[in-house]
Amino acid sequence: MAKIVGGVAVTHVPYIGRALAQNLQQEPYWKPFFDGFPPVHAWLEQAKPDVVVVIYNDHGLNFFLDKMPTFAVGAAPQYMNADEGWGIPTVPPFPGDLDLSWRMIDSLIEDEFDLTTCQEMLVDHAFTLPIELLFPNRIKQPVRTVPVVQNTVQFPLPSAKRCLAFGRAIRRAIENWDSDARVLIMGTGGLSHQLDGERAGFINKPFDLEFMEKLITDPDWVTQYSIADLVELTGTQGIELLNWLTCRGALGDHVEKVHANYHIPISNTAAGLLAMASK
Ligand code: DHB
Ligand code: FE
Repeated sequence: MAKIVGGVAVTHVPYIGRALAQNLQQEPYWKPFFDGFPPVHAWLEQAKPDVVVVIYNDHGLNFFLDKMPTFAVGAAPQYMNADEGWGIPTVPPFPGDLDLSWRMIDSLIEDEFDLTTCQEMLVDHAFTLPIELLFPNRIKQPVRTVPVVQNTVQFPLPSAKRCLAFGRAIRRAIENWDSDARVLIMGTGGLSHQLDGERAGFINKPFDLEFMEKLITDPDWVTQYSIADLVELTGTQGIELLNWLTCRGALGDHVEKVHANYHIPISNTAAGLLAMASK
């Protein structure tokens, strides 16, 4: 049966794409952010994932406000990124894993999560950048991918409780997949940020740090908060932390912290990184 090796949750600010394209990792602005990655790369070299399930929110590239699924899963042989500006070069396509996609879709629908299934899917910065950050050699050593989109954009959003349950259902799907593949779960976005309105620039470091701790020890702690509470605590885009919660749900009852990094700000965002090994 397939094995979930662990999970990585990480910020997906588009500006990171420009830093990668222009090799700015050692610049003073970027160094505290990029210094978080070598320990995670070292762990991934041992964990050796074959497939990555990426839990993220689409920002209007694949789904727009007129058609907004709460949960969607990709089932395509490959996924293309569309140019989002910033002078970022177009990146090569990301290979899919059709077998795992359909295994997950069958199992999740059986588990009463009424998904949108996408046999064609464009992926945006929330999918591409975290993969580029974690797998800098992905062209030479390819990993297969399954995109999982959660709506964190247009209200009403799924609750923290629902996202955690969704993550736990993703775990059941993968654990029952008849394959010897090693699977990494990723959750992208956050942490606290607000890009628009009166609170533009809002960041909440105490809450972010508590969230990162609780994600390891007690992820159900988050479910005490409503979506409105979480938006107030983390910002209208900080609510992307729901993607971290779903990722955590897929990792089982107990995880071990591999490495964490937190740096304010990258662009308008509190940049977080948290790698967790499944026990
Ligand atoms: C920024 C952060 C995001 O999560 C995003 O999707 C777009 C922009 C930012 O801080 O610039
Ligand atoms: Fe975002």
